[in-house]
Amino acid sequence: MISKTKTILAAVLGVSVAATLALAQSKPAIDPARIDAMLKTAFKAAPADWAGRIEGDETMKICSATNNAPKADDAKKIEASAKASMKYPDDGKLLGDWQKGERIAQSGYGMRFTDYPAANPNGGNCYACHQMTKQEVSYGTIGPSLLEYGKIRKFTEADTKAAYEKIYNSHAVFPCSLMPRFGLNGILSIDQVKDLTALLMSPDSPVNK
Ligand code: HEC
Repeated sequence: MISKTKTILAAVLGVSVAATLALAQSKPAIDPARIDAMLKTAFKAAPADWAGRIEGDETMKICSATNNAPKADDAKKIEASAKASMKYPDDGKLLGDWQKGERIAQSGYGMRFTDYPAANPNGGNCYACHQMTKQEVSYGTIGPSLLEYGKIRKFTEADTKAAYEKIYNSHAVFPCSLMPRFGLNGILSIDQVKDLTALLMSPDSPVNK
């Protein structure tokens, strides 16, 4: 009886593995133009300011076409355009208020159908992808842990600037990054980017405790 069950189990497992392999091998070629057309019809009723997001800019087009593995030339192009996109605070201060930064990092509000018309400022949803503080145990792991981010970097000015720029436009550091371009796309304001920079780079922030 046991051996019969085992045989059946093995057969079932065998079939499912074979089926998965077959699926992986017969991945259909989809015409990108058809996908673009489908997206346009699917979001017909979307607010006017969504049009550019559905279309995708030059960076998104390259990243989509290459499955996020751009050729060296294209990677350089993306990096250069992301660097050129940087905007800095008028007062030259890159560190805002880490307490506000923590609230922004926790908030996933914004840019969903249910958030129109917007009643609150957008959040950064950083915890969806990053571990950031020891206190918060619910976090995603698409991005690396940012625990002790500033402490590890000895709170230097250069690393503070790097953190600000990473949040403003992640592709300046990592072309075809999976991290949203918060500043460039107007998801977060310059003040919000400063608050998040403070969350990462202030000695008294929970990130560095
Ligand atoms: C959709 C997932 C996602 C979200 C949301 C996200 N990130 Fe990231 N982040 C990543 C990934 C993936 C990386 C690693 C690849 C790279 O550097 O782009 C990364 C890298 C980083 C780095 C560089 C880490 C290093 O080792 O130098 C910082 C700093 C950072 N993120 C901060 C933030 C902050 C602050 C927020 C919220 C405003 C945020 N991230 C939101 C995915 C995300």
